[in-house]
Amino acid sequence: MKTIGVLTSGGDAPGMNAAIRAVVRTAIYNGVRVLGIEQGYNGLINGNIKEMQLSSVADIIHRGGTKLRTARSEEFKTEEGRKKALNVLEVFGIDGLIVIGGDGSFRGAQKLNELGLPTVGIPGTIDNDLGYTDYTIGFDTAVNTVLDAVSKIRDTSTSHGRANIIEVMGRHCGDIALYSGLAGGAESIIVPEVGYEVDNVCKKLLKGKNRGKLHSIIMIAEGVGNASQLGEEIEEKTGIETRVTILGHIQRGGSPTARDRILASQMGAEAVNLLLAGETCKVVGIKDNKIMSMNTNEALEYERDLDQEMYKLTKILSI
Ligand code: F6P
Repeated sequence: MKTIGVLTSGGDAPGMNAAIRAVVRTAIYNGVRVLGIEQGYNGLINGNIKEMQLSSVADIIHRGGTKLRTARSEEFKTEEGRKKALNVLEVFGIDGLIVIGGDGSFRGAQKLNELGLPTVGIPGTIDNDLGYTDYTIGFDTAVNTVLDAVSKIRDTSTSHGRANIIEVMGRHCGDIALYSGLAGGAESIIVPEVGYEVDNVCKKLLKGKNRGKLHSIIMIAEGVGNASQLGEEIEEKTGIETRVTILGHIQRGGSPTARDRILASQMGAEAVNLLLAGETCKVVGIKDNKIMSMNTNEALEYERDLDQEMYKLTKILSI
């Protein structure tokens, strides 16, 4: 393997830069050329590609976003788009590709692999929605960002004696809501994997109010439904003044936590090592605190399960 390409794709995640840095530096350390493909699969199709040096990744380990920029490419989903991409890979002499992104990005890599290109995926998404790995790059930072917001909202919730609903990202996965809800001491955590009954949420709020609780934080994952509508229902049924905050893209930015930087560095290095060892169609992950890898097709079959023990604990602690 003489030349490795690297791209970031899909929604960005804090720690992607640390992963790019690890890929570039591990490859150069091993005498391999690295080409940075900008704007994900769109950039691949359009030949938006530059050689990366050691200095190209200096001063980025602590930065959010992705130096290579990203995109959700519609063109790459077509056969014609993928053919164009393959031509570009040939023209630039790229003989292995590292894709940093979520499940959609991995599916793109899978397609290129079917066309004969060695690929390795690195899980970069705040959602933590990939079943084969315990954690994805960006999740820990997003949880900490949410936690910071929860603490601030809790202050004003207490001052006004209100209920505050906080909607977080995660697509169909409730992990951001679950982890930040547990860490933030939320009264209720609503996740798509479990669902909810409005009456149960209301009962809990009233129970808390009756025992003198001044604040109530309800975490809701975006995959569950309409947070604003829930706010109206709660207010109507309980008489408790309720406010809704949709945190949105603030969750995708910011300097990555130490945990995300370390994970990204380990995964980036492992991805290069796999390609150099002649492996293909792989994704890297972390299981039981150990960096591991798995066949991409197999990895994508794993469904993400909610940590039921943790969910149960949130119920006990918010009694
Ligand atoms: O997959 C990451 C994510 O932030 C999801 O949590 C969210 O649903 C989605 O991306 C938002 O996508 P976009 O930035 O394209 O609006």
